[in-house]
Amino acid sequence: MQLMIKTQQWLVDGKEDAQLAEALEQAGAALAAGALVAFPTETVYGLGADARNSQAVERIFAAKGRPSDNPLIVHIADREQLDEMVLPYPQLASELMDHFWPGPLTIVLPAREGVLSPLVTAGLATVGVRMPRHRAALALLREAGCPVAAPSANRSGRPSPTLAWHVQEDLEGRIEGIVDDGPTGVGLESTVVELPEPGVIRILRPGGVTREALAHAFPGIFIDSEATGEEDVSAPRSPGMKYTHYAPQGELHIVLGDDSEAAASYIREQQSSARRRGETTGILAFAERLAGYEADQVLSLGSEHELENAAHLLYAALRRMDACGVQRIWAEGCVTDGIGEALMNRMVKAAGGRTIRL
Ligand code: TXA
Ligand code: MG
Repeated sequence: MQLMIKTQQWLVDGKEDAQLAEALEQAGAALAAGALVAFPTETVYGLGADARNSQAVERIFAAKGRPSDNPLIVHIADREQLDEMVLPYPQLASELMDHFWPGPLTIVLPAREGVLSPLVTAGLATVGVRMPRHRAALALLREAGCPVAAPSANRSGRPSPTLAWHVQEDLEGRIEGIVDDGPTGVGLESTVVELPEPGVIRILRPGGVTREALAHAFPGIFIDSEATGEEDVSAPRSPGMKYTHYAPQGELHIVLGDDSEAAASYIREQQSSARRRGETTGILAFAERLAGYEADQVLSLGSEHELENAAHLLYAALRRMDACGVQRIWAEGCVTDGIGEALMNRMVKAAGGRTIRL
């Protein structure tokens, strides 16, 4: 049983720089003093704690109900903070930082011993680091003055939060504060990469920085990947990939087909028979076919030609299905180009691998 504590809100959405600075000075001081503070980034809301403070970091795991063998990403505001916590790293890593930081790219680097809490790295010799591209996040990190460990600010197994309200839903009474700066941008988590050998970037988790963007920035480099969404997850290199993530309470099925009308017909048939069985149903579909569906909840992912929008909407839609007690959900799949790769990865995971190909 966890004791309930008061969760303070710092609303900075739409605030001028001066007001933002005042709120974040308080929130930053709380972080530096060992408190748990959730904050927005350009991907999803994170649950922050001083990465050097084991007591604080331990409380992240407790508040989320997160398995302790799943390491946390460390967030920094300045490159100077990096050298204190990592050992010398390949030139390619620093070129990646030049290109994509601040931004949704987490780079796995060799950790310097004795600096970060061992709970952050979950016993690995490496640490995942990123610099978020977000005004409030960067200001908060500067105020805190310490490296900040922050997983997504959801209860383990729930969709990552893209609104401060989602954080409240999951963590109110378990953390000291939430910085509310409105909806996050990308809506899916950062891309996690490691550099296993010269000339190779390996994607451990697809995310906000796409494979195409990596390939474009580094034409001579081989972009390898571990995670495709349907991979064998028995021995993942990114420990977090082995857990069921983002699973809605209802049973979710992803429906894929070269012929999108055939996929739509299949979804309609499945929905009607579930309806006849008395089940509550939900459909997640692209705008192009939305009007053709009937269900208790029909939610739009926007146009199938603007998958950035779908990425932005996915987690809130999954939360909505839960809030409405939907028992059976079908989601239209999409192409895996660009952000579509991360989107399908998260959808297939949310579905526990239940993918139907027509
Ligand atoms: O966008 C994001 O990355 C968000 C925001 C808050 O920054 N954070 C986030 O954290 O998604 P989390 O804890 O939900 O996911 C971190 C992922 C996990 O899959 C974890 O296993 C992996 O990164 N990871 C962390 N450190 C690692 C390491 N040293 N080696 C391999 N994978 C690592
Ligand atoms: Mg997470």
